[in-house]
Amino acid sequence: MGSHFHYQRNQLYCEETPLEAVARQVGTPCYVYSRSAIIENFHSFRTTFIEVDPLICYSVKANSNLAVLQILNQEGSGFDVVSAGELYRLEKIGVDPRKVIFSGVGKTVGELEAALEIGIGIINVESLEELELLTHVAVRKRIKPHISFRINPDVDALTHPYIATGLRQHKFGINLEELEDIIRALQSRPQLELTGLSCHIGSQILDVQPFLDAFLKLRELADALRRRGFAMVHLDLGGGIGIPYRSETPPRLTTYAEFLKENQNGYQIIFEPGRFIVGNAGVLLNQVLYNKVSQAKRFIVVDGAMNDLLRPSLYQSYHEILPVKKSEKEGIQADVVGPICESGDFFAKDRVLPQLQAGEYLAVMNAGAYGFVLSSNYNSRPRVAEILVHGSQIHVIRSREGFEDLIRGESLLP
Ligand code: LLP
Repeated sequence: MGSHFHYQRNQLYCEETPLEAVARQVGTPCYVYSRSAIIENFHSFRTTFIEVDPLICYSVKANSNLAVLQILNQEGSGFDVVSAGELYRLEKIGVDPRKVIFSGVGKTVGELEAALEIGIGIINVESLEELELLTHVAVRKRIKPHISFRINPDVDALTHPYIATGLRQHKFGINLEELEDIIRALQSRPQLELTGLSCHIGSQILDVQPFLDAFLKLRELADALRRRGFAMVHLDLGGGIGIPYRSETPPRLTTYAEFLKENQNGYQIIFEPGRFIVGNAGVLLNQVLYNKVSQAKRFIVVDGAMNDLLRPSLYQSYHEILPVKKSEKEGIQADVVGPICESGDFFAKDRVLPQLQAGEYLAVMNAGAYGFVLSSNYNSRPRVAEILVHGSQIHVIRSREGFEDLIRGESLLP
């Protein structure tokens, strides 16, 4: 449990706000974020790598709520985007486009145009085809963008297969043996300026070694390109730093920082952290609807579901679950499930929790990253509210959808 969520007189608080008060005021399910936690995580990252003096580009996909982006922008963060939609969000809050990096394996013409028009900092190019497309767009717009090649360093990130991205069989990045072809193609395209290399080997990585291996591969390639006359300025090491959801030991970031400092060779280091910044800064607040007990099993049915928080269903990921009112009652083992018509709709299996009555509240912890952003309207469930807590203040930073929102854009046949 992050220090910004804590029990006080047996009540679970976010900063100085009891979660029960939030639940009563805005209803459940809802996401609750701690402003201080976001800021603290950002500064802790910056402090750890202070000697490396990196550009930190928060990965918008982890949590793209405007207020979250606004906080990070105020703290001086840059941003990593993967779509024109994410760019649009940054435009809305007036982010300096030079601090924005555009990654992604499938950028469309429209997205490349939007990126150039806004004056984006760097475009991470992932294939020969993308290089060609970007050349056309750059010529048409008469803009010379800074690009970096996203390398697939063939490093095993030792994480869940769905979120590992740095092995040669993955769709991401340019494989080492294809790099030469793409460099040659670049030499006949003066419309683009290669200024660095990038990689992102996966997410929720708990061991620091894969990061070091990837960095060394990237630096070796960049050094070779420097010798060939390319002005290689930056190395973007992506995101991927894991956080403890249970009792995992997080990666030793000081080791990472020291290693980079020693081996940096004058490159500007860029990071794209997402989960590290917002993961432990949010919870999904639910109300218990039923206690369903059969001979075989016990279920705590809550009002939140897989459409609100997909991680347990999609990655079998573990999230701590805490009763909002601490109870001395003896723990019993149960599955915590939602109302959706799928057996895959669960937040926890065989979890020991104190007996809870219908109407009581439960918090699914560490849900600030890849929580709301992965939510959907499945089962025609309106998407939930997002709340930002600042001390004892509550801000609704996204209101709960209504039924009208569910059918927006739909039309009947004539
Ligand atoms: N940069 C790039 C190019 C990425 O693809 C990602 C995440 C990041 C940065 C940020 O990674 P982070 O620091 O958050 O690990 N939905 C999954 C995680 C998917 C990550 C996708 N890419 C989950 O809930 O675990």
